[in-house]
Amino acid sequence: MEWTLTRLALSPVLACALGPGATLANDRGQEGVPPYASAKACSQCHSTIHGYWSESAHARSATSPAFLESLRTAMAKAADQEVVRAGCVWCHAPTALVTGDLRLKEPVTREGVTCDFCHTVSDVDLGRSDHPFHLDPGPVKRGPLEYAKSPAHETAYSPLHRASALLCASCHQYTNAHGVEVLSTYTEWKEGPYPLRGQTCQECHMPLVPGSSVAEGIDASQRRINLHRVEGGSTVSRLAAGLDLRFESVALRHPSAEVEVAVINRAVGHAAPGGLSSKSLVLGVGVDIGSGELTLRSERTYRRALRDTQGRDLVTVADLFLNATAVGEDTRLRQKETRVERFTLPLPDNWVAIVARLEYRDASGPEARVATVREVRWARR
Ligand code: HEC
Ligand code: HEC
Ligand code: HEC
Ligand code: HEC
Ligand code: HEC
Repeated sequence: MEWTLTRLALSPVLACALGPGATLANDRGQEGVPPYASAKACSQCHSTIHGYWSESAHARSATSPAFLESLRTAMAKAADQEVVRAGCVWCHAPTALVTGDLRLKEPVTREGVTCDFCHTVSDVDLGRSDHPFHLDPGPVKRGPLEYAKSPAHETAYSPLHRASALLCASCHQYTNAHGVEVLSTYTEWKEGPYPLRGQTCQECHMPLVPGSSVAEGIDASQRRINLHRVEGGSTVSRLAAGLDLRFESVALRHPSAEVEVAVINRAVGHAAPGGLSSKSLVLGVGVDIGSGELTLRSERTYRRALRDTQGRDLVTVADLFLNATAVGEDTRLRQKETRVERFTLPLPDNWVAIVARLEYRDASGPEARVATVREVRWARR
């Protein structure tokens, strides 16, 4: 019954965009019909949310050059390439768990962490051995709205989506075959102060913003939506929202200066930097001699090192997942931590300012990315 309604609700444009036989919800057994609908189908009504999601890392997760390159590297290193492929694809293109499209051939697979995947997860169990999801692709779209009515699909209120970090932990917490937590974002969050305050991943990474849940002309129950751009380390404003930097003290003792700088994890819900060990924060302190550049620079690095059996520090993402056998030094900033670093800086005669700069570095892809998160200056008076 619902099934028929769903079909009828499809506009001709929508049906055309999806191809023959395409619907918003299919029964799993039907041959040739993908059980997951494309984000394009959802965008016909949820256009604003679709726009934000398109800009997210989730929408790029199966097609980013960083992922594809790293997948090739990982497979090249492995005895059984297909096992490795499956091991990477289930998080980056999770619809393949149901469709079996591990070679990323179907457009919906290449949509990565797509709408219909998240909104048809009915439960998460991190203790399961194959993968943590209870998957229920089909007509029921689960979400945070209690009495939502849609002409296109059924709806169900889901506490998992509304207020549980487990939905996110399913992919952001991962222990590899050697027992090493390659991704520990969820356990870090759990051990910090944020769960007690009811601040889940969604609260920080999907805050409510003005906007309509559906396009004009369709009834919406609310005028605010959860920001589906899920910003993290790849957005400087998000990094800056969580991290602070200030001078604690500066003592001039020519020809040098004793400097104390505080780096603060003010509002990051887990250790900073979060995520994979290919990410690091670097504090650079030095002097500006009028060029605007940081010279005579000293550094401190905040990072969680993962090591292989020979004790080598692993750097590529493929190695982190496949070959990490132990956790090395972890110098990241814990939640609410203020780390005070001391430096003795040589002061050339022409110094103009002492500068502290906090940089974010991401070496996950073929090209490392460096972004300045914050910079503070102590000018000569
Ligand atoms: C024909 C229009 C239309 C299409 C197409 C559509 N939806 Fe909806 N959807 C709605 C309407 C209307 C609501 C109710 C919105 C409200 O109350 O603010 C809704 C609500 C939802 C909700 C909230 C459910 C809840 O109880 O919290 C989710 C999740 C959702 N849709 C997901 C999807 C997904 C995923 C797709 C694509 C597979 C999709 N929708 C396609 C119209 C549509
Ligand atoms: C990573 C999983 C994930 C993906 C991918 C995702 N959503 Fe959501 N969505 C959520 C969560 C979680 C919420 C509720 C957040 C909350 O209540 O704090 C939500 C809320 C919603 C709602 C209810 C209105 C609102 O904004 O609260 C709609 C409708 C919706 N999503 C549609 C979509 C559509 C359409 C797409 C794809 C263009 C999509 N979602 C992609 C997890 C996801
Ligand atoms: C099905 C797996 C999956 C689920 C579920 C999932 N994520 Fe992700 N997430 C990923 C992958 C894979 C990436 C990395 C994508 C890339 O950069 O190529 C990612 C990236 C991110 C990033 C980094 C963005 C940036 O700027 O670098 C944030 C933040 C994030 N996810 C938050 C969330 C939150 C919050 C939830 C729960 C509402 C969630 N994720 C659920 C797989 C998932
Ligand atoms: C109190 C707010 C807050 C909470 C709660 C929170 N985060 Fe974050 N998260 C941030 C901030 C701020 C950043 C950017 C700073 C950084 O990357 O360390 C971030 C970064 C990230 C990144 C990107 C890491 C990187 O550097 O590329 C991921 C992935 C992520 N969070 C996932 C999660 C998940 C999953 C949860 C829930 C288990 C969660 N976050 C809970 C604030 C929060
Ligand atoms: C348990 C889920 C999971 C598995 C399994 C997984 N990934 Fe990821 N991957 C993620 C998440 C979550 C992120 C984002 C974490 C962060 O922000 O640091 C990510 C990020 C990445 C990135 C950085 C993406 C970018 O655009 O910067 C690469 C590359 C990557 N993964 C490759 C792989 C490879 C190769 C494999 C298999 C060996 C793999 N992943 C297995 C969840 C997973």
